Amino acid sequence: MRTRDKQVTFDEPRFKALAIGPLTIDPPVVLAPMAGYTRAPFRVICQQMGCRLVYTEMVTAEGVSRRSPPTMRYLDIAPGEGPIGTHIYGVDPDAMAKAAEVIESLGRFDLIDVNCGCPVPKVTRKGAGVALMRQPETLRRIVAAMVQATSLPVTVKTRLGVSREQCNVSEVAHAVEEGGAAAIAIHARFATDRHAGSVDLAALKRVKAERGIPVIGNGGVTSPQDAFAMQQKTGVDGVMVGRGALGNPWLFRDVNRFSNGESPAPPTDAERRAVIAQHLEHLYQVVAEWEKTLPNRKYTSEQVACRMFRGHLSYYLAGMRGVRQLKKRLMKMESIEAVMAGVDEVLRTNASDGASRQSAPYL
Ligand SMILES: Cc1cc2nc3c(=O)[nH]c(=O)nc-3n(C[C@H](O)[C@H](O)[C@H](O)COP(=O)(O)O)c2cc1C
Repeated sequence: MRTRDKQVTFDEPRFKALAIGPLTIDPPVVLAPMAGYTRAPFRVICQQMGCRLVYTEMVTAEGVSRRSPPTMRYLDIAPGEGPIGTHIYGVDPDAMAKAAEVIESLGRFDLIDVNCGCPVPKVTRKGAGVALMRQPETLRRIVAAMVQATSLPVTVKTRLGVSREQCNVSEVAHAVEEGGAAAIAIHARFATDRHAGSVDLAALKRVKAERGIPVIGNGGVTSPQDAFAMQQKTGVDGVMVGRGALGNPWLFRDVNRFSNGESPAPPTDAERRAVIAQHLEHLYQVVAEWEKTLPNRKYTSEQVACRMFRGHLSYYLAGMRGVRQLKKRLMKMESIEAVMAGVDEVLRTNASDGASRQSAPYL
């Protein structure tokens, strides 16, 4: 027994492992694919914190099947990463199958995930992303063609429907399973809600009851307790976390601790600084590597990395005192040294708050 609460015992971890084909994901709380965010530097940090499944950013199947260099660079991974899935979009079963072959031939991925939830017009105009929800039969054929083309598990990430008036996630999940997918992830919101609005746990519970393949629930999870509650209330096999991990990769460490009945371990300021520095430095190295093959003469690699880092930086420092005043300046900083000096200033301003950020133990 690892807790003082006599009514609750933790001889077994609280979370049960998620199985996707041959993969065992334990604990079953995974990092969502997020365009512009889930590049190698952030993925590596989440994995260091104990996240057992991550995805690349979204890539076009068309570009992958042609091995187009600007597309292929999104499939670069850091040494030691994994398990890791690619996250591809497209609408043509043959192109998706060809992309699956190319991805498998790279020998670095553990699964291939199909985007069936992106509402961005650039994607939906072509019938891909969430527009595929309007064509469950095409989606079934895409999955079946990919399953034929690769030995890697094929999964699908989708939503509840295109809009409240078109809630067809059950039909879509049926098509996905019929096609031979190894799992389905459901962002329990409608495409018209983008990333806002309430998460429909009843719908997750319904699809989980209807399907035989593992179901991964997604939406609004920002703590281990949220993930646990989603699993308890819906029976989903896994939980996917998006924005809750941005600026807070420590969430994955706490998921592991929570599962074992241990207290959370919020980051110290020194740790937060070290993670920010690691993230930015790694991003710089990634950009510098890209520049060797696709040179950008307008900006230096350091400038590009600092610009690309801005979104993450906002998340890392969110809610801290003095950030608002500093943010404008911070967001114009284009050298790693200047960014880190700005970060130090924010952390110094907030140092006295350290004690109040300590959380209570998990019960
Ligand atoms: C910046 C950003 C980029 C995203 N990019 C993708 C994407 O490329 N593919 C996808 O399926 N979902 C994408 N999403 C949606 C997330 O994967 C996730 O489904 C959504 O954020 C809901 O989870 P959350 O409430 O935990 O954030 C993105 C979300 C954000 C915030």
